[in-house]
Amino acid sequence: MKKQVVEVFHKLYGADGDIRTYFAPGRVNLIGEHTDYNGGHVFPCALTIGTYAAARLRKDDRIRLYSMNFESLGVFETSLDDLIPSEKAGWTNYPKGVMWAFEKKGYKLTSGLDIVLYGNIPNGSGLSSSASLEVLTGTILKDLFGFDELSMTEIALIGQYSENNFNGMNCGIMDQFASAMGKKDCAIFLDTSNLNYEYAKIELEDAKIVITNSKVKHSLVGSAYNDRRNECETALKELQAVVDIQTLGDLTEEEFEAHKDAIKSEVRQKRAKHAVYENQRTIKAVDALKQNDIEEFGRLMNASHVSLRDDYEVSCEEIDILVDLAWNTPGVIGSRITGGGFGGCTVSIVKNDAVDTFIEKIGAAYKEKVGHDAEFYVVEIGDGAKVLD
Ligand code: GLA
Repeated sequence: MKKQVVEVFHKLYGADGDIRTYFAPGRVNLIGEHTDYNGGHVFPCALTIGTYAAARLRKDDRIRLYSMNFESLGVFETSLDDLIPSEKAGWTNYPKGVMWAFEKKGYKLTSGLDIVLYGNIPNGSGLSSSASLEVLTGTILKDLFGFDELSMTEIALIGQYSENNFNGMNCGIMDQFASAMGKKDCAIFLDTSNLNYEYAKIELEDAKIVITNSKVKHSLVGSAYNDRRNECETALKELQAVVDIQTLGDLTEEEFEAHKDAIKSEVRQKRAKHAVYENQRTIKAVDALKQNDIEEFGRLMNASHVSLRDDYEVSCEEIDILVDLAWNTPGVIGSRITGGGFGGCTVSIVKNDAVDTFIEKIGAAYKEKVGHDAEFYVVEIGDGAKVLD
């Protein structure tokens, strides 16, 4: 891919000067959903698909951005003193947001730059194409402007900051962290309350991780996400009146049950219950994995789905169909919705010898029920963002 991106760069902007290339991956989360803004644990891994870029510094303050995925939109031009979000800027709001965030955090960009991008994460799939674009931009700026003191964790935090404050999506840190810090063949067990993390090798002897893309994305995503977050924040405040905690992730299931009546609405109780139980499930799932108990890991994935469907209410009909089909397919160890919700993808652990029938049977049944095809990807876990040359 790198070669094609550089070719397009040459064609659009010329071949002179120091042109450098970069990659930042998408992610899939194995378990620990909607826990990252509740001080809980997550367990994502970086994928080998993601976003590529070629970039070069300019002598003036112009910024030129071009995506090979949106050819018809052409080259988008702006300048360093015009970094404000706008609807018409479309996808370029992500790189612009990161540039804005660098400046906000005191990392002065001393010149403009030319960038060409190409991404192979299916659009709207919930596999973090936007986080990959943010982390990619951060990696470009760190490299081209020589901000060596910035760690990749800080690049992830700047990406999240830009998404929260420039793009208005109140996301947690999981996606940017996975894209920045991913490691080949490992998932990241991340404690979002302090950003301590540990890599866990994913060595499934006789099974594969399969992502199924429902190819639906319901439009309420952004607002419903922010609503969930607000509900959890209110529930936390109500709980803090009766128990000494900093986040919902501080509670065990038993502690939650003992204090839950402090939460004065049924809906908020369900949201908080999910956050608490999902965090505990994630801790248990990583333990199970360490003990090679993949069946237990699968059961916890299934329970995660039920909780996201019934208590957190972020699933949708198409996703529930996919998960039900998976649960009823022999050789499936566990299956759940992954990512923010309201469409996007499921993640399943499937025995090696059942993968072909999984794809075939679920593909056909989904098409019959929903009317369009699903897409399947057998996961390869890759490294985090990097400079390619
Ligand atoms: C989106 C957000 C993440 C996380 C997930 C749900 O992907 O960007 O921060 O909250 O949803 O787990």
